Order: sequence, then C-alpha cells, then structure tokens
Amino acid sequence: MTDMPWRPLRWTGEALILLDQTALPREERYRGCRTVEEVAEAIRTMRVRGAPAIGIAAVAGLALAVREAIERGDDWQRAFASATQLLEQTRPTAVDLFHGIERARQRVRTVNDGRQAALELARLGEELLERQWSIDRAIAEYGASLLPAGARILTHCNTGALGTGAYGTALGIVRRAHEDGRLGYVWVTETRPRLQGARLTTWELRRLGITHTLLVDGAAAWLMARGEVDAVIVGADRVARNGDVANKIGTLSLAVAAERFRIPFYVAAPLSTFDLTVSDGMAIPIEERDPAEILHSVCEGCGEGSRVWNPAFDVTPNELVTALITEYGVVPTPDERKVVALVAASSEERHAAG
Ligand code: MRU
Repeated sequence: MTDMPWRPLRWTGEALILLDQTALPREERYRGCRTVEEVAEAIRTMRVRGAPAIGIAAVAGLALAVREAIERGDDWQRAFASATQLLEQTRPTAVDLFHGIERARQRVRTVNDGRQAALELARLGEELLERQWSIDRAIAEYGASLLPAGARILTHCNTGALGTGAYGTALGIVRRAHEDGRLGYVWVTETRPRLQGARLTTWELRRLGITHTLLVDGAAAWLMARGEVDAVIVGADRVARNGDVANKIGTLSLAVAAERFRIPFYVAAPLSTFDLTVSDGMAIPIEERDPAEILHSVCEGCGEGSRVWNPAFDVTPNELVTALITEYGVVPTPDERKVVALVAASSEERHAAG
C-alpha cells in the first residue's frame, strides 16, 4: 500500500530493496540486500535508518539468513541465532530493532521445519511493512488534530517515509496537516553531524511539494525566541517507561528552548519504539559513532589532533514533553502511569483484534 512514486523499503521475499540513504540527495540509488550480512551493513552504515525502518529491515535480514542456511543445508536454527546476534550489534539505541528481532523469534518459536520458518519470517517482513502504513497514518491523524490552523512547525532529523518505510511519524503529521490545508510552515534543522534534516527531510518535503526552510541546529532557539514556531515535533528511538525520550542528538536542546519560549514540544512514536523494561531515559544505551562523522562534516583538517565525542542520540526528560503521539492516541504530559496504561490498552486491543 503506497501513495508514493518511490519506495524507501521493499521486501520481495528474496531481497530487501532499499533506497540508499547515504547517497541522497545526490543520487537515488536502490540497493538489494540478499544476505543478513548485507542488511547488517546497511543498518550500521545508515543506508537504512530511522527506528521503525531499522526494525523492519532486521526482520527481513533474519528471513534471508534462514533461507540461505536451508540452501546450504545448514542448521537453520543456528543460523537464525547467529543472525540475531549480528543484527543486535548494529545500532544500540532504537528499540524497534530489538522488538523486530523478538517478534521474529516468537514467529518461529514453535516451527520445526526450516522452509516453513523462512516462509513465516518472509511473511512477517511483509506484514510489518504493511502495518507501518496504518500506524503512521493513525499517528498523523492524532498529531494533526493537536495543531492550530496555520501551524508553523519545527522538526528535527528525518522522521518521514525514509525513517519508517511508510508515511512517516513526526513528518507524517506535517504531511497530514499539509493535506488538510492546515499547515502554516515547516522549519527543518540541519541535524549535525549526519545531516538527516538537510539531506533527507528537505528531499522528502521537496518531493511532497511542501515549502520549507532549512536552518542550522544552532539557529532553532533564536527562531523560537522570535515567535516563529507554534510547535516542535520530533520522532523517537526509544521511549522509556516514565516517558523520557531518546532521539537524535540535538533534540534535548530543542525541548529546553521550546519550554523557555512556551512552545508545545511533541514526540511522535509508534508503540514499537516504547520500552517498558527501561525505567527512565538515563538507562537507555546511547550510540556513540565514529569521530570521522564529525571531522569530515566540518572541514578538511578541522579538529585533527583533537578528541571528538559523537553521541548519536540524547535523552529528553518527560517533563519537557508536552505529549507523546502514538497510533493508540495522545499521552499528554507523559509519566510512568500513563505510559504503562497506554501499552496495556494497546496490547488488549491487539489481542481482541486477533
Ligand atoms: O540515526 P538515525 O538517523 O537513525 O536517527 C533517527 C531518529 O532519531 C528519528 O527521529 C527516529 O528514529 C524516528 S524515525 C521515524
């Protein structure tokens, strides 16, 4: 189910075809991953990125690992176990990756036959990709209903189709407001050092015909101080039990500035991004990436001989979050009680739906 001429993620059952996000916006290059090693490399190097998209890619990777084992006449269960280990080591923060792997594990728990397991995993990949559309659409609808007409939104990183494989979360809300004729304006932060805002979000917005302005991350507080932002909307990589949010580095600065200038700060995230096993955000593992990502993005020779710290994410405490926007509804001023209740209600609903 797609309303886009391009597809960031496609699962054929035999390969995961992804739009290589490291090549954008220069080149629209599709890449077929036919082994779990190729999928793991794509996740690690951020050819595919964004919490939900990573989770879906991991499931496809497991399907490929099992299929390959059967073709080689190897023990598929052993191949499955080592593929999960490989994938788990790619990126530590987005919990969707671990939830995807756990779903796959559950799907083949009672399966003995390797061919059947490969089939089940291939189906799960398809189902997750398909389901992401309705999840994203529900988030977009809830989110857009919170916004005043003509809302001027500031967003960070990339939370669009590239980040979910479907309609997008925070950027899905922007899309939905635009479709409803209620969008005032979009401000896009550059998102140092990997420039997901400058490279990917502007690319998506151009394709959607949504006018926007790009700014350096450091200009966001000044923009808010000038009264030019009605809401900040970001995505998440992991939401802790108490509603603290890990998201792309720079998110915390935006939340602090939004509070200072009394601007609502919304976090849009599907339930696959929630992790009730971590009590608060400080317990979330934060990925630290190669210093080269910073050095190369600044200038030739910059920082040579200096130490570099490159955390990929930060944690925004729940008290700075105006509301969490999920496919099961909105959680205003999140705390442990509300988050636990939402997750419980969502699993009851899922059970009832079969
Ligand atoms: O390092 P990235 O680009 O994978 O980080 C992505 C984000 O921080 C997004 O906000 C988040 O994953 C949500 S994508 C719908």
